[in-house]
Order: sequence, then C-alpha cells, then structure tokens
Amino acid sequence: MKPIIYITQKLPEQAVAKLQDSYDVRMWHEEHSPAPREELLEQAKEAHALWVMLSDKIDRAVFEAAPNLKIISNLAVGYNNIDLEAAHDFKVMVTNTPDVLTETTADLTFALLLATARRIVEADKTVRSGEWKSWSPMGMTGQNVGGATLGIIGMGRIGEAVARRGQGFGMNVLYHNRTRRSLEDVKYAGLDELLQTADFVVLLTPLTEETRGMIGERELSLMKETACLINVARGGIVEEAALYEALKAKKIWGAGLDVFEQEPVPTDHPLLSLPNVTVLPHIGSATVQTRLAMMDMNAEAIASCLSGKSVKNRVC
Ligand code: DGY
Repeated sequence: MKPIIYITQKLPEQAVAKLQDSYDVRMWHEEHSPAPREELLEQAKEAHALWVMLSDKIDRAVFEAAPNLKIISNLAVGYNNIDLEAAHDFKVMVTNTPDVLTETTADLTFALLLATARRIVEADKTVRSGEWKSWSPMGMTGQNVGGATLGIIGMGRIGEAVARRGQGFGMNVLYHNRTRRSLEDVKYAGLDELLQTADFVVLLTPLTEETRGMIGERELSLMKETACLINVARGGIVEEAALYEALKAKKIWGAGLDVFEQEPVPTDHPLLSLPNVTVLPHIGSATVQTRLAMMDMNAEAIASCLSGKSVKNRVC
C-alpha cells in the first residue's frame, strides 16, 4: 500500500505530478475553498502526510485524529496556523516555504505601501464611477514616499527585501526586531521610537503569543497623523477595533492591509467602510512563479520525509 498524502485545497496538476507514482495522493476538489474541518479530520485518519494551507487550523485535534501522520507541510512561510507543541508531542515534523517568496512578498508590500500612500484604489474607483469631474489642485493628494521614513517591524528576510526597496525610493529605513541585526544603512529603533518617527510602519513580524495585539490603541496613538500602517504579516498583530478608531478619527492617515484577524474578512467589517484603507485578500506571495516554487518545496519535503531522507525547511 502506498503512503497517503492529503492536500487540503486543489493544487495545479504540475505541483502534485511528481508525487503521484510513489504515493496515494488525495486532494480536496475545490481550488477556492478549503477542505471543511470534518473532511480534514476524516482524511487525517489515514494520511501519512498533510499538505496544508495557511488558512487551515492544524490544532491538537488534527494530530489526535492522525495516527499515521509523519509530516505537515504548510504552503506558506508563516506557520501560526499549526500547533507546534502538539506536532512535537505527536512527533510529526512541520515544514514551511521560506526564501522563494521573499522578493515576491516584498514587492507586494511595497505595492501596497505605494497604493496606500497615493490612494491608487480610491483614485481608480473615482474614474470608473464618473466622480472625476475635473483636475483639482488638492484632489486625490496622498503622502510622499520618496524621502520619507520607512519603519519595519520584524526584520527577517522579507524585511530586508522591503528595506532594499525603500532605499531604492530614497527612504530612510528604520527597523525594530527582537534581536538587533547589523545591516547597512538601516538603523535599529525601539518600538516607540519607530512608531513616533516612521511615515510608513510596515508589519512583517510573525504572529506569536508575544506579537498578538502588538499594535493597539497606545501604539497607534504614537504614530504621526500623516503616517500609514501597512500589514502584510498576520491580522492578529493589530487590534482591528483600535485601528478602525484611529483611522476614523484621523489619528493616522491610512492603512494598507493584506491580512486580517478573520480571513476572508467579512464584507461588513468596519475597516472596509473607510476610504483611507486599502485592502487585499492575503496575496503577499501570489505570483504564478512563486506559488509553484512554494509547492515544489512542499512536495520535496513530503517526498523526502516519506522516503526517510533528510528534510529541508523544517520548523519542527
Ligand atoms: C506566508 O506565506 O506566510 C505569507 O503570508 C505570504 O503572503
């Protein structure tokens, strides 16, 4: 009997082709919605490997349901959706997809920063809706990016790639990180100092118990009235109710959000009612090339694990 791999969302044929000869590959049939929880738990009963998405909650119950499980491979660099303590207890390895998405995610971060600063989405809507009546001296005015101060919270690989883009735009770059890094032309700042100084605060830190709710009312109140908050990390890092209040009261100027506490974010979420918020559906790594490269990494990790070879990109 071939070892069983269960994939929680429909992936392109080419991504799974290499596994099909040696393994019994089972896959949820829909591309745009994940396997329901009951289906995941049912499939976990037999699976030797689970290939999961960042939207799948892999908690202790999944491990308890899966006596044969050897590996969980996450199609993401972040892995806050997986209970690592349970993985450790059940001796299941977990892998992620670092590096291949670094530049792509940094591009999206910068695109969102520019879109927020220059009100690109709002401006597009104005043209399409016929609200554009004439060129206007202060119409659709945004915030300068060139020469502004970029403050990056969470200085890992993606942070460094965003810093390089900022430098290319002539920005002064500050960062805040758990550990100090020695980086050229990028200055370390304490969290409060960064919040008080930056024109663009970019969140790139992983979601952990330590970073959950790290940007709340107090932190937002330290930011400049002309500043923008850009979150491409995880929704849980920001207290959304506090962000809504800060934006509504114009205590900060704008926000660009690729991630939300609840995803998909409900369409009646208060943040979506504000014109000074640019929103995206968690697409940091979403290019054809990068997503296929991430899938290759997952497939390789699963094949290595199930054939007893050493496994790259383990997080536990
Ligand atoms: C990830 O892979 O964790 C990121 O959210 C990319 O968008």
